[in-house]
Amino acid sequence: MTDTDAALWCVVPAAGRGTRVGSGIPKQYLPLAGKPLLQRTLDRLAAHPSVAGLMVVLAADDTHWPNIGLPGIPVLTAIGGAERADSVLAGLHALRAKVADGNFVLVHDAARPCVRAGDISRLLDFGIPAGGALLAAPLRDTLKRADTQNCSVATEPREARWRALTPQLFRYGELVAALESARAAGIAVTDEAMAMERMGYRPLLVEGAESNIKVTTPADFALAEFLLERGN
Ligand code: C5P
Repeated sequence: MTDTDAALWCVVPAAGRGTRVGSGIPKQYLPLAGKPLLQRTLDRLAAHPSVAGLMVVLAADDTHWPNIGLPGIPVLTAIGGAERADSVLAGLHALRAKVADGNFVLVHDAARPCVRAGDISRLLDFGIPAGGALLAAPLRDTLKRADTQNCSVATEPREARWRALTPQLFRYGELVAALESARAAGIAVTDEAMAMERMGYRPLLVEGAESNIKVTTPADFALAEFLLERGN
């Protein structure tokens, strides 16, 4: 078995409140093309041959999880924290007995149900030899800096700017150390790559499909349904 064939655990942070969808139910449990959003995401990940198990990180007061239909690979749960990075770290700590420090792990947002298997494969193919990587998309729009009145005060360079997506792929021990270091320094990291950059790593940006959207607003639900129904 080569590194690239390695069976990986995937941490799935799903402990967000999802208040931007404006519903009483957390967004990860809202129906998306007939199944809860979270279930769609787990099904996608579990269908990939390199994903060996899922560590789903839930909010402490989550009452909806028992109603999820689980995919046919090991699925464990952990309790998340106040920020996404706290939830990811809790999931990683809960995997301590299953994953060696040098093994790679994936982290994938519960809110990204449209991730394509081919993109996960490319992330592994390029990211494992590179020592760590993330799916990302080059910025195509012109980027504006706003003042407090939402007036545009400057145009930022677009060259060499990427949007970070997930999954992100790092070695277990390095990622745990990077997230613990950021937490100890009081720095709020919004993705795993940001924590790794702080430690001097240079994660590889692997271009992924723009359709791997983070479902955040009601309009995103409609777009994600459209994408899934078209076989994205
Ligand atoms: O809030 P945002 O859309 O950035 O969340 C990205 C992912 O992180 C979501 O899947 C959400 O459930 C998860 N999250 C988490 N714990 C938090 C906040 C967000 O697991 N405290």
